[in-house]
Amino acid sequence: MSTYANYSKTSHVYDKTRSAASVDIIREKLEDWSLPLNQQVLVDAGCGTGLYSEALVDDVQRIEAIDLNAEMLVIARTKMKSAEQKGRICFHNSAIDTLPLEESIADTVMINQVLHHLPDDSSPGWSEHAKVFREFARVLKPGGRLIINSCSPEQLESGFWFYNLIPDALQEMLKKTIGIGELDNLLQENGFTTMSREVPKDMVLQGEAFFYSEGILDPDWRSGDSIWSLVPEESLAAVLEKVSAMRRSGKLNAFMKSNDQTRKNTGQVTFSIASKTC
Ligand SMILES: C[S@@+](CC[C@H](N)C(=O)[O-])C[C@H]1O[C@@H](n2cnc3c(N)ncnc32)[C@H](O)[C@@H]1O
Repeated sequence: MSTYANYSKTSHVYDKTRSAASVDIIREKLEDWSLPLNQQVLVDAGCGTGLYSEALVDDVQRIEAIDLNAEMLVIARTKMKSAEQKGRICFHNSAIDTLPLEESIADTVMINQVLHHLPDDSSPGWSEHAKVFREFARVLKPGGRLIINSCSPEQLESGFWFYNLIPDALQEMLKKTIGIGELDNLLQENGFTTMSREVPKDMVLQGEAFFYSEGILDPDWRSGDSIWSLVPEESLAAVLEKVSAMRRSGKLNAFMKSNDQTRKNTGQVTFSIASKTC
């Protein structure tokens, strides 16, 4: 299984522009459960550098953190060394469609900003998504929950001011992004019932850095959004030239602000909460 973004390269700068954004939504869902938080087992599918795990590791009994990329896992592991020694978190270098976990061990699976990295699209009926959901259902206890943090197609189209500069990459990203209706159908077909949905309208994935318009010129800033991996070198040079020209003429900030207006209606991210059908 492959992913188009080079997370080995990105791992060292990932946390510069990313955080456990809206983790409170996840914590609230965990608190609203039949077991106290400190007795719950949580799976972090595609944990990356462990931002969400780190924010929750002191609250739950144990986290099983899984990622395909060994370098991302090294960063996560370094941050949570002491929690790992205490048995509060276990790391697994694995794909999420074959979890190295026993069945029915988890209260909740969370998957933050990973679905669009699956090598999948609508033509095979989102078959890789289906495989991953079946795997989540296998490791969840009866009635256990799945929390999906993902961008909807509408949010991709309206929530990211700089995507207007890279329309071809946006189209590629849209092909990898399942719509909300399709997601619900797929969840239902693979062992889940959708319970609720939350859209934190003010939340931006890259935090304050998102509004630093000159950031586009910085490769580390661009590493905060995998869409840049879908921009070919030659197109990137032209985009950077355009951005540099706007900066020189003092128009870059105004460009950012006017293209950021639509985000206020859609937000960037949707949390979908589903429960394993008993
Ligand atoms: C955008 S990062 C999100 C990391 C983390 N969940 C967060 O929100 O900060 C995507 C992560 O998914 C991982 N990933 C992509 N495809 C995967 C797969 N099939 N199995 C496991 N991990 C995968 C990548 O290696 C990367 O660390």
